[in-house]
Amino acid sequence: MQDQYHRFAAVYDAMNADMHSKLMVEYCHRIFRKHGIKPKVGLDLCCGTGTAVDLLSQLGIKMSGLDGSSQMLAQAAKKLKGKKIQLYHKTLPRFKILNSSSGKQQRYDLVTCFYDSLNYILTQRDLKAAFKSVYNHLEKDGWFIFDMNTLKALRTLWDGQVYAGEKNGVAWIWRNEYDAKKERAHIHATFFEKGKKDQWLRFEELHTERAYSNPLLKKILREVGFVVKGYYRCYQFASVARDTYRLCAVVQKR
Ligand SMILES: C[S@@+](CC[C@H](N)C(=O)[O-])C[C@H]1O[C@@H](n2cnc3c(N)ncnc32)[C@H](O)[C@@H]1O
Repeated sequence: MQDQYHRFAAVYDAMNADMHSKLMVEYCHRIFRKHGIKPKVGLDLCCGTGTAVDLLSQLGIKMSGLDGSSQMLAQAAKKLKGKKIQLYHKTLPRFKILNSSSGKQQRYDLVTCFYDSLNYILTQRDLKAAFKSVYNHLEKDGWFIFDMNTLKALRTLWDGQVYAGEKNGVAWIWRNEYDAKKERAHIHATFFEKGKKDQWLRFEELHTERAYSNPLLKKILREVGFVVKGYYRCYQFASVARDTYRLCAVVQKR
């Protein structure tokens, strides 16, 4: 796993970065209705600060969360304090969760993974291994719902763009670039956090992401054994097109 989400974790929600989770849970609600999904036990991969875990559990799903960053999990634990929600400190692509009483591999009828999380997986081999791990943790007929940045997003929204903002005592400047040859997008992120004496504390993180073409993503999902039931422009039910920046896949284990 890349070396990030250390100090970013403490300012993630203040920057409103968890807004995406709120949108995704609302969208999932619509996806459940459209596809007749009635999940009882779910796992949110790369759960970050736990917003989606919290909101999905409010829909009546017995949720757990998994993330590779102990700092993000610490934020999630704070948010979920007092709720009986299990959080796992594990990394993709290969992970295994065992049932604490039977010792057997834990299974879920829903696995979710939101935002750029799967874009942090930088090789096709690792992406397939991550999908395989998800597959192994699903019940038969269980569902995997995830969203990702498309190639179009990294090539156009990222390359050469600078994003800056200020919210709730945090300021940030993100310089983005896309290396088409290496198929890697980088964010050189600089953060400023307001300290106790009104001084701004600066820190930096480098984030690297990759996107995969739509035919390749679907091919890998099918090779692992998933049936692709929906492949949408994120937040909608229209098909992914050339100008789609974020996709959402709804796939089922058969
Ligand atoms: C953009 S954040 C998304 C967090 C949350 N899903 C949300 O929507 O707000 C990406 C998350 O993926 C986690 N992550 C990235 N690579 C990972 C890996 N290889 N294994 C586990 N977690 C990973 C990071 O720690 C971070 O919490």
